[in-house]
Amino acid sequence: MYENKTHIRVCLSFRCKIVLLVTLFIYLWFSIRWSHNLPSRPLFEKILIDDDWEFSFDELTWIMVTLPHTPRVEPIEKVEQQWQGTCFYRRKLPIVDNSYRILQFDAAMHEADVWVDGVHVVHHLGGYLPFDVNVSHGNNITVRLRNTDNPIIPPGKTLSELDFNYYGGLYRHVWLFKKSYQLRFDRDIRVQYENVNRSQATVRIRFNITHDQNTLKRYRIRYLLNGDELFPSKVIDLANPSMNSVAYDIKIIVIHPRLWSPWKPNLYTLSLGLRSNIGTKEIVFDQENITIGIRSFEFRSNSSFLFLNGEKLDFLVGTNRHQEYPYVGYAVPDRAQRRDAYKIKAAGFHLVRCSHYPPSIAFLDACDRLGLLVINSIPGWQFFGNKTFQANALDDVRQMMRRDSNHPCIFLWEASLNESPMSREFMARAHAIVKEELSNGLTSGWLDEENIYDVFAPARQHRDRPYFYRFYRAKNNKPIFLAEYGDWEYYASKNHNFNQTFLPQLEQFQNTSRQRRCDGERGLLQQIFNFQEAHNDNRLASKTACIIGDANWVMFDYKRGYAPDIEASGIMDINRLPKFVFYFYQ
Ligand SMILES: *[C@@H]1O[C@H](CO)[C@@H](O)[C@H](O)[C@H]1NC(C)=O
Ligand SMILES: *[C@@H]1O[C@H](CO)[C@@H](O)[C@H](O)[C@H]1NC(C)=O
Ligand SMILES: *[C@@H]1O[C@H](CO)[C@@H](O)[C@H](O)[C@H]1NC(C)=O
Ligand SMILES: *[C@@H]1O[C@H](CO)[C@@H](O)[C@H](O)[C@H]1NC(C)=O
Ligand SMILES: *[C@@H]1O[C@H](CO)[C@@H](O)[C@H](O)[C@H]1NC(C)=O
Ligand SMILES: *[C@@H]1O[C@H](CO)[C@@H](O)[C@H](O)[C@H]1NC(C)=O
Ligand SMILES: *[C@@H]1O[C@H](CO)[C@@H](O)[C@H](O)[C@H]1NC(C)=O
Ligand SMILES: *[C@@H]1O[C@H](CO)[C@@H](O)[C@H](O)[C@H]1NC(C)=O
Ligand SMILES: *[C@@H]1O[C@H](CO)[C@@H](O)[C@H](O)[C@H]1NC(C)=O
Repeated sequence: MYENKTHIRVCLSFRCKIVLLVTLFIYLWFSIRWSHNLPSRPLFEKILIDDDWEFSFDELTWIMVTLPHTPRVEPIEKVEQQWQGTCFYRRKLPIVDNSYRILQFDAAMHEADVWVDGVHVVHHLGGYLPFDVNVSHGNNITVRLRNTDNPIIPPGKTLSELDFNYYGGLYRHVWLFKKSYQLRFDRDIRVQYENVNRSQATVRIRFNITHDQNTLKRYRIRYLLNGDELFPSKVIDLANPSMNSVAYDIKIIVIHPRLWSPWKPNLYTLSLGLRSNIGTKEIVFDQENITIGIRSFEFRSNSSFLFLNGEKLDFLVGTNRHQEYPYVGYAVPDRAQRRDAYKIKAAGFHLVRCSHYPPSIAFLDACDRLGLLVINSIPGWQFFGNKTFQANALDDVRQMMRRDSNHPCIFLWEASLNESPMSREFMARAHAIVKEELSNGLTSGWLDEENIYDVFAPARQHRDRPYFYRFYRAKNNKPIFLAEYGDWEYYASKNHNFNQTFLPQLEQFQNTSRQRRCDGERGLLQQIFNFQEAHNDNRLASKTACIIGDANWVMFDYKRGYAPDIEASGIMDINRLPKFVFYFYQ
């Protein structure tokens, strides 16, 4: 036995030497070739972190999930209240090099706590807008989410009294932004347009650069529009070594711009590159590509029309959209978001109101591409909470502007809580934040007594119908947009306009627009009758009042917290199948 063993060992070590030498040779040959041909990992990256999350209700049992994710798959018809509670997600991040790293959560419903390597770093309130987590020094992420009723998180109302559902989970994407400590664009790059006409337009770009003055002497910014360099870039010397951040406000004149409109949604790619030298070689440290569309929206004094790129627009025909889908709630993939925008356009609408919260980025991207005007709204519904709630709602206004102000499709910023009583102070502040973030942004709100918003956007059911709006003039002759019509005014009597617990009489119920696809021809024709009657009346009213357009209630059937049944005034059902009235709008 002993002899045998020795023999084998000697034999192996001899063969090992040869194998090792050959392996080493191959390895060296390849690594020399690779180091010449391929750069090491890029200095900047944007990586989707949707795969490989673990999910748990109790931190004991974990299952693997992929984002977008919903904590509980809900039945299509409500048999019990939508799930509310606490849940957890955890994951390790893929990069552990010495880079500046930010993790962006596109949405987390709706109270989030985040730990990085066991250290609590973020407490975030609000379920519809993104937030960042600094992961420069860690890669072990744990997230705790709560979607229980909370009167300081807009919409604030308890779910059991709310006319929609808000679901749960990490229901949008998570992104990892990797950048260099030495030189990078800060997170926010703002684009807006001034003096737009067919012969020229000014594109204004605002951004900040952070650099390490100890290791870099100079850098260069390149500006490209659809791949063409806009002007030769200057080398910028870091003359003042005490500054490690520089703010830029650049104006570029584009000659003969291809303007964006719902009929010709022309887009450009604006690309900003940040370069500096490592030794004698110039390296791209950072790059940001932004999809832009050059256009202007304006109202002219005492005119009831909206001017797009200087041209008077006809009556705008629009709709309202809730973002949920059956079973998965809010955890809707990008393709389905784009498909919703496509269906809205295919129904013949030029405009969509994002009732009653900011939609996904994928939905807005699709609206940019398809040419759908958007009214973007903060989360709110028949609730005006205390000062903490109000501060959170104002923060929603700012975060909505930061996320979305570069989208050409957005024409109104609804910095107003839907059908909620609001103080003058709150409305003035909300309006002012929009202007601070986007100086020529236009606001809308449902209350006009204080004369704050640029556009008065009530729903048709808010006043006596059908004649009220025909002779109505908003304060100071401001334009009106009828933000909802066709449902509630055919459902509740005038005296029950805001009373959600009111149950209509059978006679009225027969006239309702709430008709499911299975409700038969009589019901589906009634729905068409109502929508056309209300819409025609709105158009007629636009002859005598400053009404620029309307949006029906609603595009897709949806579920809600306060009632057991599906709200069925959609022109498509919750599965996105058309009812007769879809073809009426076409
Ligand atoms: C990750 O962090 C959690 C605490 O948040 C800790 O329990 C776990 O052991 C950590 N895992 C690793 C691999 O570091
Ligand atoms: C993120 O963390 C890094 C490393 O601690 C730090 O240098 C950087 O300033 C932080 N960034 C922000 C936005 O807090
Ligand atoms: C850019 O810097 C300016 C002042 O230096 C500051 O007011 C602004 O908030 C910064 N913007 C961003 C997006 O960091
Ligand atoms: C377009 O705008 C520019 C800058 O405001 C102005 O100088 C020019 O006269 C305008 N052209 C037309 C055709 O309106
Ligand atoms: C940005 O666009 C340019 C073309 O203008 C392209 O070469 C580059 O790969 C894009 N970069 C990113 C980060 O998407
Ligand atoms: C707008 O019209 C109102 C009356 O209809 C008038 O009082 C006001 O001065 C006008 N404003 C402008 C800017 O023309
Ligand atoms: C608002 O209400 C919440 C909970 O009901 C409370 O924690 C908070 O302190 C209140 N804020 C103010 C400013 O009263
Ligand atoms: C709402 O309607 C219900 C049923 O008709 C009624 O009992 C209740 O008093 C109404 N509430 C209000 C605030 O009017
Ligand atoms: C419902 O329709 C009937 C006729 O179809 C009409 O007599 C009745 O007034 C309508 N009710 C309401 C509330 O519109």
